[in-house]
Amino acid sequence: MCGIVGYTGKREAYPILLKGLKRLEYRGYDSSGIALQQDQHLQVYKKKGRVAELEELLLGKGLHAHIGIGHTRWATHGEPSDRNAHPHVSQSGKLAMIHNGIIENYAPIKQELVSKGYQFHSDTDTEVLLNFIEEIQTQNACSLEEALRIALKRVVGAYCILLIASDDPETIIAARKGSPLVIGIGKGEHFLASDASPIIEYTREVVYVNDYEIAIVKPDELILKNLGNEKQTPYITRLDMELSAIEKGGYEHFMLKEIMEQPETVFDGLRGRLLAAEGKIIMSGIEQHLPAFLSAPRIIIVACGTSWHAGLLAEYLIETFARIPVEVEYASEFRYRNPVIHPGDVIIAISQSGETADTLVALESAKAQGAFIFGVVNAVGSSIARLSDAGAYTHAGPEIGVASTKAFTGQVAVLTLMALKIGYAKGTLAEADYLNLLLELEQVPEKIREILSQSAHIQQVANKYKDATDFLFLGRGYNFPIALEGALKLKEISYIHAEGYPAAEMKHGPIALVDENLPVLFVATRDLYYDKVVSNVQEIKARKGKVIAIITKGDTILPEMANDVITIPEAHEAIAPILSVIPLQLLSYYTGLAKGYDVDKPRNLAKSVTVE
Ligand code: F6R
Repeated sequence: MCGIVGYTGKREAYPILLKGLKRLEYRGYDSSGIALQQDQHLQVYKKKGRVAELEELLLGKGLHAHIGIGHTRWATHGEPSDRNAHPHVSQSGKLAMIHNGIIENYAPIKQELVSKGYQFHSDTDTEVLLNFIEEIQTQNACSLEEALRIALKRVVGAYCILLIASDDPETIIAARKGSPLVIGIGKGEHFLASDASPIIEYTREVVYVNDYEIAIVKPDELILKNLGNEKQTPYITRLDMELSAIEKGGYEHFMLKEIMEQPETVFDGLRGRLLAAEGKIIMSGIEQHLPAFLSAPRIIIVACGTSWHAGLLAEYLIETFARIPVEVEYASEFRYRNPVIHPGDVIIAISQSGETADTLVALESAKAQGAFIFGVVNAVGSSIARLSDAGAYTHAGPEIGVASTKAFTGQVAVLTLMALKIGYAKGTLAEADYLNLLLELEQVPEKIREILSQSAHIQQVANKYKDATDFLFLGRGYNFPIALEGALKLKEISYIHAEGYPAAEMKHGPIALVDENLPVLFVATRDLYYDKVVSNVQEIKARKGKVIAIITKGDTILPEMANDVITIPEAHEAIAPILSVIPLQLLSYYTGLAKGYDVDKPRNLAKSVTVE
């Protein structure tokens, strides 16, 4: 949700900013821009559209500067346009700023500034904050840093900002609250960005800036202060991400690469944790807090979007195996409805990015009420990971495609391990079943590989239904969250209206939609509900709906009834969802592709939603 990048040092800043913006484009892509400082002069260029359009605009301009900032935008205040693109320049023309986040009380501040004669050239809250800083500096005749500090004490909302001044050839001033900021430490140079991807090829030493901190960054110096002007010690960590992980590696799209990587990423999530032959699951985060889980009167899972679907599946797994009541909450609702949290309740936070504002804010308020938070997070060092009391990383590697795929299966793998470990420790999961499930889990990467080998067939199915205007996804039990996830993937990537429903609930309303034009996808693998789902398929057929079924290999009944089938290998019903989701990911990818859409950057979306 907006990507920001900055550089100060001896190198040419522009190529570093441009490459960084391309890496951060998954965070927002409706406009982009850069500001460079040279010879006491700010040069600002911005353009509606993708970073490639900015690059084209700047082709041959011979831009030289050793300090600069860049931004790729996901619009909040003001439509996507050249004038609303960042960086913004202050009234005097002396300051340029980029911002990721939302200033909620921008309207009264804007009024105050307008009454003092300020004119605005965009509809953004960012331009308001920038002029507010300038006004404070003018009124108080203070340093820019001091003016920023005063301004930030007055603003409500979330921000990560980078600020440069025409009279300072070296310094970038940065601040964060609620939106991420990483600073890469080089030799006589510093790199700033929303995540480590623009930094990784220059240095592996980074500092994650904390909320309410201001960073004063020069080529040879990094000073961190809190809003009370007290110096903070920068905590340097080492990145262990590889550059290849954030490149396409020969695939046409990140989304396809990330779908295809899943045998390896799920394996990575299980590696060192699942020792099937020894009958063991090793998860230090759980082991250290086992009493909290064993005595928990309730587990509350908090997440958004795809991560929420992983949470819903975890509800089925934890309640079945560990017999602990689970509630699955949309983070955005949980936070604002004043939830009841009992002493002893355990909160599991699930997030790929670890930066989702709705989840973060919900957790902060739960933490303030004394809740114990266990994070299931993909992005190492992210805000949610740091806020959690304990956790287990999903180890899926950087996910760049905006639609979440490998992060979801990584989450499911970790949550399944957790449910089995807690259930076995609690005595609610019998040893024989536990051992069998461990062996089943161990086979998952190979079974995913088998499903991926059918991608040509899945592409044919996608091509056949690509012109549908609506889609229904149905599943029961463990397959219900997968039906929801399939529907979400399809709408994100192909813009086809899709709904997910529990298969039996369909007859209580959605069945009215069924006619010969409606494709209905059943996740109908062999499980407890199989016979009932077959009856639901009959109900759709009787109304001339087109049935696509995800079935278990060897099923001879559904191929007779369905218009199209996609098979997955046989698996225990609790393990099957991590497999049955794979064809749905491919189906949405190939549908979006057939329709000619940009599957890695679907319209209106952004990868990391850092505004509430
Ligand atoms: C869907 C998708 C989103 C995210 C949601 C939460 O493909 O990617 O629905 O799952 O925005 O994001 P994280 O997991 O980063 O908290």
